Amino acid sequence: MEDFVAEFIVPLAVKRGWTSFCEIGASLGLGTDRLLTLPDATITVVDPCLDLDLSAKYAQESRVNVCTGLSLDVLPTLNTRFDCILLDGDHNWYTAHEELRVIREKQLLKPGAVIFLDDVDWPYGRRDMYYQPELVPASFRQPYARKGIVRGRTELSDNSGLNGDLCNALREGGPRNGVLTAVEDFLREHHREYRFFRIQKNAGLGAILQRRSFARDFWFLSSACRIRAYNLFTSPKRLTRSRFSSTYRLAKSILGRP
Ligand SMILES: C[S@@+](CC[C@H](N)C(=O)[O-])C[C@H]1O[C@@H](n2cnc3c(N)ncnc32)[C@H](O)[C@@H]1O
Repeated sequence: MEDFVAEFIVPLAVKRGWTSFCEIGASLGLGTDRLLTLPDATITVVDPCLDLDLSAKYAQESRVNVCTGLSLDVLPTLNTRFDCILLDGDHNWYTAHEELRVIREKQLLKPGAVIFLDDVDWPYGRRDMYYQPELVPASFRQPYARKGIVRGRTELSDNSGLNGDLCNALREGGPRNGVLTAVEDFLREHHREYRFFRIQKNAGLGAILQRRSFARDFWFLSSACRIRAYNLFTSPKRLTRSRFSSTYRLAKSILGRP
């Protein structure tokens, strides 16, 4: 998320005059640090602090309010409205879907506010991952293992692949599996209430906006058009990478790219 915050969210925040942010899942606070480059930003950070004691890190920073806990425990207690909410916590269907549900029910968005979600593409768009699997109700939890994810393969790998130290769902796809599936289900449940687009870069960034009139949402729609053009431009590269990964690696090595 850090790169998306720097490249995309901070410039948009400057243009839109956003000042109030909620960041779910901050890890070491690298995305938070990027948001702090906005002079008027105030940031509510929600994280169980599995990676770092964020309260200690931001003890001297009055613009950051760290709520140590899980998103689904903390979000219902918030009474602020935000210009922008960043979701980058537990990357599974249940958590992402419930976060969106609570944000809507608690009306945590100001008019024109945007929710950004990291990991709407591979590997977690269609596959759950659990930081603490025991905290997700069993009926919503996919079978999982601490094994690696290989692009183009539904089964996990014993000896290769990505994020083998994390609890990844055994299979990719199907109902109630993955962050993008959670977003699509939420949008379907609230038909025509929201607009959505995604940037197909890195692990994928999604953006959700409450639907207003065409004129008021024009800035979002024009961004979506630019992003769609970007996605089209980069899709041959992504297609080659996902379908012909060995050819892609060979081409990169011939071109001397890392
Ligand atoms: C991918 S990292 C976030 C990276 C961060 N956004 C950045 O830009 O550097 C995910 C973080 O989510 C936190 N997390 C895990 N489960 C969570 C939950 N249920 N609610 C909030 N945060 C959670 C973990 O502690 C971890 O630090």
